[in-house]
Amino acid sequence: MKNAEIISKKPVTDGLLDYERAYKEFSWEAIKKDICIRNNKVNIAYEAIDQHAQSWRKNKVALYWEGADGTCQKYTFLEMKKLSDKCANMLRTLGVRKGDRVFIFLPRLPELYISMIAIAKLGAIAGPMFSAFGPDAVRDRLHNSEALVLITTPELKERIETVLWELPKLEHIVLVNVKEDYELEESDVCYKTLMKDTPDKFEMEWMEWEDPLYILYTSGTTGKPKGVTHVHNDMISHSITTKWVLDLRDDDVYWCTADPGWVTGTVYGLWGPWLNGISSYIYDGRFDAAKWYEIIQTFKVTVWYTAPTALRMLMKDGDDLVKKYDLSSLRYICSVGEPLNPEVIRWGLKVYGLPIHDNWWQTETGSIMIANYPCLPVKPGSMGKPFPGIKTAIIDGKGNELPAGQHGLLALKPGWPSMLRKVWGDEKRFKEYFSINGWYATGDTAYKDEDGYFWFVGRADDVINTSGHRVGPFEVESALLEHRAVAESGVIGKPDAERGEIIKAFVVLHEGFAPSKELEEELKKFIRHRLAAHAYPREIEFCTNLPKTRSGKIMRRLLKARDLGLPTGDISTLED
Ligand code: PRX
Repeated sequence: MKNAEIISKKPVTDGLLDYERAYKEFSWEAIKKDICIRNNKVNIAYEAIDQHAQSWRKNKVALYWEGADGTCQKYTFLEMKKLSDKCANMLRTLGVRKGDRVFIFLPRLPELYISMIAIAKLGAIAGPMFSAFGPDAVRDRLHNSEALVLITTPELKERIETVLWELPKLEHIVLVNVKEDYELEESDVCYKTLMKDTPDKFEMEWMEWEDPLYILYTSGTTGKPKGVTHVHNDMISHSITTKWVLDLRDDDVYWCTADPGWVTGTVYGLWGPWLNGISSYIYDGRFDAAKWYEIIQTFKVTVWYTAPTALRMLMKDGDDLVKKYDLSSLRYICSVGEPLNPEVIRWGLKVYGLPIHDNWWQTETGSIMIANYPCLPVKPGSMGKPFPGIKTAIIDGKGNELPAGQHGLLALKPGWPSMLRKVWGDEKRFKEYFSINGWYATGDTAYKDEDGYFWFVGRADDVINTSGHRVGPFEVESALLEHRAVAESGVIGKPDAERGEIIKAFVVLHEGFAPSKELEEELKKFIRHRLAAHAYPREIEFCTNLPKTRSGKIMRRLLKARDLGLPTGDISTLED
């Protein structure tokens, strides 16, 4: 166990001051008392936007937005209220009602954030999607959720044109950023035109705590991505975890670098900060070290929530670059999504003068479950301690709790406010999460040290984590099989110093096709376009057969062991 090193650097905070006491005395009911409840009904959009628009915060900036081309815009809480009211009215005229699914396929434009709020006001269910998705990924999500409306741009619509005919339930496409000479199809509507003549007052739906709010699709080992469904009740977890883990205060300028197509960008890029009335900065551009530092300098970012791959890339770009910028506004840094290397934390301490606070959670948990806190020393390499109200354990395969120091499955006791409520349309897969003696099984392995800090070990299944993106090997294998040259494929995550893991595919070709550099590039391009830009195999190895079990299942474990030169373990089920 590597817990000798401790970084203790307490920031000034009015957030969580005494972890042990908070953990002991914590009650979710107490957190609920700040929420506006009408006839036992609630709405997260009221808490995140409208309440501030009626308070002293009405002229406070909710959103500082910067486009990839450097265009900047600002929106106050009052402006966000009016725009989301308008957008809700507009969606209602299209027939959207409580419980309908409205999917969003947009870059990080202001309209993405406005429509997320509007959808909640309508009582509808939002489905944010990453703008790098290809047609297959979009089709699977819209098809499974039976989405009624899709909000996108003309460019992104063109990318998915080939699959639209497979979506009979989709009634309208709302197009954002339509140029004047663009010819709208009959079933499409222009966001800007509709918004112009729509009133900016909307009577929001008051919701049951358990009514669905958003669906995010995420990958498992097998099958298509699962529609992890969250509810308005999640706001209880969102608001307190944002306050205590991200340590946000009213005078902060907060930057979460994640896209709302991933759970971090939805929960902590949107709901969490706004539930706390915080000014949030959003950048719709790609990663660029110099640009990122310029953002912190220009917008005087105080709290920064990012990911290990980004931090490793910043580290690679060197210390001299950091020195060119005034980053003195920064007071708190957090990271999530993949293991955060201790050397990155040490580097951060050196160049930013601040420890990086790692935290752990999942799409399914809906909010941060394990974290490093401002009031606790950081042990580099550890994810930290459970959030108050969360019972975390390391268990064996039967659900018995294991003592400190022993590796096992990371499990949570069900019942926290933001726990997933269902897998859309798949009760069986939902129940599987709780199949080890009633624990919520995370799929990760970890251990706990004597001080109660949790340390990530790995995944218990084949799920790949590349640059913090969760990718199911099955999805990539299926997409590869759609290519006419591919007869069989097996996909694994291969350790990579910068990205955590990269995707590697082993491919058996049909007769008549021969391995070549050109074919390799074609397959990479094929997956980038069909599935998603982040989900393509950076390495492809052509082979004549794949190791399979006697029942025909590809043994990814064996592919991985062979590739990495590791012991192959039990191969008794291997086909001859
Ligand atoms: O394997 C863990 C890894 O990311 C998985 C969850 O992925 P996703 O649902 O996409 O959510 C990511 C952001 C909340 C986990 O099962 N993971 C997440 N945080 C960490 C991590 N692995 C190591 N250290 C972390 N801090």
